[in-house]
Amino acid sequence: MYKIALLAGDGIGPEIIKEALNVLDAISESSPSFQYEVEEALIGGIAIDETGIALPKETVELCRGSDAVLLGAVGGPKWDNTDPGGVRPEQGLLGIRKELELFANLRPVKIFDALIDSSTLKPEYLHGVDVMVVRELTGGIYFGERKRIGDRAFDTCDYTFSEIERLLRIGFDLARKRGKKVHSVDKANVLESSRLWREAAVKVHEDYKDIELNHMLVDNCAMQLIRNPAQFDVIATGNMFGDILSDEASMLTGSLGMLASASLGSSGVSLYEPSHGSAPDIAGQNQANPLATIMSVSLMLRYSFDLMDEADRIDNAIEEVLNNRFRTADIMEDGATRLSTTEMGKKIVDTLKTDR
Ligand code: IPM
Ligand code: MG
Repeated sequence: MYKIALLAGDGIGPEIIKEALNVLDAISESSPSFQYEVEEALIGGIAIDETGIALPKETVELCRGSDAVLLGAVGGPKWDNTDPGGVRPEQGLLGIRKELELFANLRPVKIFDALIDSSTLKPEYLHGVDVMVVRELTGGIYFGERKRIGDRAFDTCDYTFSEIERLLRIGFDLARKRGKKVHSVDKANVLESSRLWREAAVKVHEDYKDIELNHMLVDNCAMQLIRNPAQFDVIATGNMFGDILSDEASMLTGSLGMLASASLGSSGVSLYEPSHGSAPDIAGQNQANPLATIMSVSLMLRYSFDLMDEADRIDNAIEEVLNNRFRTADIMEDGATRLSTTEMGKKIVDTLKTDR
């Protein structure tokens, strides 16, 4: 019996998590090898409202004692503030990443043929695009020293060689199972931390001579992702660059609502979440696209539980539903059938029930 910690969070978080759980239920009903129980805990704005902080101790303990964590989203205008000592929902997310040492964030950018026309890019640039963004998640400018002193403020981008090295090893290992190409993305023409990044990439590459290594500056990478996205296989990069590039890359798929993520680390407990935020503007309206969260569940089955067939079943169900031209609002197009969050979840579940 696997134990999954459930952190629904804020905004659309609870709505998309509910659909992901229905999918997990459908899988466990048909796969005796996969039985699970869930336990919920607070994170983000809702945790602030109920406990005063974004990451209560009980939440961390529950996650540590679980086999995997499924997270919705955190944040919303209600809790926004610019107070240097302020309490913010995002502290919950950053905190749990750090507590569980989830240093590698995998964001697969997979193009579904059925969605090629939903992208803002011309179709001819999208065929064959299959990118894995591997983002460092527990270091860099997100966690370096920061301060507000009078009318000045600073944030520090701080990396050690070994932090970079372990992230890059994950990138190279993934490339070995995929397209055998790594783009290590940095800003080595300006930043010292990026020059260290580049040195680490050269060193790690010695153990991966079968993989092609390209160094690319982050500004160029941002441009190349739009100019010729099919050139990329694995993009391995630091925390902030990965945050920005993965949002950009998600638009190749048609919507940020299609981008799943897996955060892996050294503690053995991995965390799965959609790459998008809490979308406060549509929260509670049953409009959000649950597919990024459902794909995150598929990543959980793949990476945490080694259930490859079950993960494939989810991915195939998503593909089939999209091929049948069912869409949520964010990926809607002419002639397609528009579904709500719950309807999309149900379509995936119904498809899973008929796939064998
Ligand atoms: C993400 C999000 C978070 C991040 C925010 C909500 C703190 O944008 O997971 O990409 O910047 O890491
Ligand atoms: Mg982001």
